Amino acid sequence: MKKIKGIILAGGKGTRLYPLTKVTNKHLLPIAGEPMIYYPLRSLTSAGIKDIMIITGVEHSSGITSMLGSGKENGCNITYRVQDRPDGIGGALKLCKDFVGDSSCVVILGDNIFKEDLQKHINTFQAGTDDCMLFFKRVPDPRRYGVGIFDDDKLLEVEEKPDKPKTNLACVGIYFYTNEVFDVVDQVKPSGRGEYEVTSINNVFVKNGKCSYAILDDWWSDAGTMNSYHKTNRAIFEDGGGG
Ligand code: G1P
Repeated sequence: MKKIKGIILAGGKGTRLYPLTKVTNKHLLPIAGEPMIYYPLRSLTSAGIKDIMIITGVEHSSGITSMLGSGKENGCNITYRVQDRPDGIGGALKLCKDFVGDSSCVVILGDNIFKEDLQKHINTFQAGTDDCMLFFKRVPDPRRYGVGIFDDDKLLEVEEKPDKPKTNLACVGIYFYTNEVFDVVDQVKPSGRGEYEVTSINNVFVKNGKCSYAILDDWWSDAGTMNSYHKTNRAIFEDGGGG
């Protein structure tokens, strides 16, 4: 059975939330009375994942370590690394190779908030032979996201922020990988904007037939834009507060 470690990607400059991010890290902004990063952290710890690496950007990274420290208060052991080049989610993953070692990993984008209990999905992934598991959710505005293309139930490809999305199923910011991901990251080329795109990585697994997927049952939000930050706050308040 696969051993699982957790990775939270909390890099980036948070430009879409400027000026809220001028003097603090995006992942420390409040969501319904708690710092944003508490949500992905709790998604991991409540699924029993205790060994967690957090990748921060250079901007205001000390705020993250001051907030979370060793992880003791939040019931986990946190290791930090700083991504000092804006080379994307793939670039951040490259920094996690030694931490993951011979385990597998659950990777969560630090601004993605999930109500979904991850445990059942982790159990499925751990018991299976796939090297990658992706998650989709129906959205009204798919152009903002990686979008799944399917033939009946078969996932054919993920298209990153297409102008004309072929479905409204967004590939959400949580990814399960075996440590094969570190070989795949080395195979992909940076995109036009100089980033190792998570969608390019995921498509290698899809093409090799090593990727499974699930549709989320529960609510999910990407809080990384002003509009979605506001909506996320409102939705969680209306749902009875953080957690
Ligand atoms: C990233 C990914 C995209 C995914 C989204 C989920 O985009 O590139 O495929 O759908 O996260 O939040 P970003 O929001 O970082 O532009």
